[in-house]
Amino acid sequence: PIVPVILSGGSGTRLWPMSRTLYPKQLQALYSDSSMLVETARRVSGDGFTDPIIICNGEHRFIVAEQLLEAGIQPQAIVLEPVGRNTAPAAAVAALMLTNKDPDAMMLLKPADHMITKPNVFVEACLQARKAADDGALVTFGIIPHKPETGFGYIHKGPALAGFNSCHRVEKFVEKPDVKTAEGYVADGGYLWNSGMFLFRAQDYLDELSKQCPEMVEACRRAVHLARQDMDFLRLDEQAFQDMKGNSIDYAVMEKAQNVLVVPVDMGWDDVGSWSSLWAVGDKDTMGNILLGDVIAHDVAGSYMRSSGQLIAAIGMKDIVVVATDDVILVAPMDRAQEVKEIVKSLDDLG
Ligand code: GDD
Ligand code: MG
Repeated sequence: PIVPVILSGGSGTRLWPMSRTLYPKQLQALYSDSSMLVETARRVSGDGFTDPIIICNGEHRFIVAEQLLEAGIQPQAIVLEPVGRNTAPAAAVAALMLTNKDPDAMMLLKPADHMITKPNVFVEACLQARKAADDGALVTFGIIPHKPETGFGYIHKGPALAGFNSCHRVEKFVEKPDVKTAEGYVADGGYLWNSGMFLFRAQDYLDELSKQCPEMVEACRRAVHLARQDMDFLRLDEQAFQDMKGNSIDYAVMEKAQNVLVVPVDMGWDDVGSWSSLWAVGDKDTMGNILLGDVIAHDVAGSYMRSSGQLIAAIGMKDIVVVATDDVILVAPMDRAQEVKEIVKSLDDLG
């Protein structure tokens, strides 16, 4: 079976003020009644998968454990990072834990903060891709791009692989291109977005990472070796993690690896990174609004308004985001919702 490894380390700054350092977006119920972490774990809980491994920041351990317990999901481990060092080490830690027990272990790396409206299609693609991963490939799942998004990785799709259901060679993997390049890719038609999910044998990933950054693999090995069990949690060694230079799996491995394949999948994927993308993917009323919590809207259109605190009352607004919590009210035009991250940065700078 495939071991789901769920990455739950991010802070989701573009969904401020709901998403906070102590309560990031993947732990919130943003588009259904369950948190994105729980939705993610449920998606890969059927036949063909083992119980998941969750990797998160130490500060989030109790919320993570409680959410999984409530949802009846039993992780095989909740691994705690003392500090975030991005996705390449997180994946390496899981890979090392798995290969210690089974040298052939197959892992599915999956971010906890994506929305997939056709989970069955994804699971099917995953089981299909298994054969190629058994053969030593690093498999990614590709999405047909509909805008020149610069926050994603792009995959130049090569020819289909004979005998492997809808697996394509990857000519080139480009992580987060600039706007001009991204526009070219979308116009070209031969490019896919990298969904950020990967299927590979744990050992193949470690081999590839050892070629690119052997010191990271060594640091992760130390972090796992010196890890200590603390109740239901596995705490990675702090010193080993602190001292390591971070990097993402995309830059550290995928851009450089030779044997990379992509499976294009139409699974209703969205990385719901901002209020405008939550609005874009959600169910809207006849005026094109999404109104959640205590909201009174008169003559409002194309807007996302959400309150988890005080009443929002709005008149005559169009294409606006308003998000109210107990202590913050965010107001922004829909097309500038991404800029919330600048506010978070200036708040961080203030301390
Ligand atoms: N455990 C852990 N530790 N998880 C982490 C860490 C970390 O240090 N850093 C990030 N993550 C988690 C995030 O919570 C998220 O679920 C996932 O790993 C991906 O990290 P992001 O920081 O969101 O990556 P990105 O959005 O910039 O880019 C990636 O995802 C895109 C699709 O959403 C890349 O894979 C792109 O190529 C891809 O297009
Ligand atoms: Mg992301």
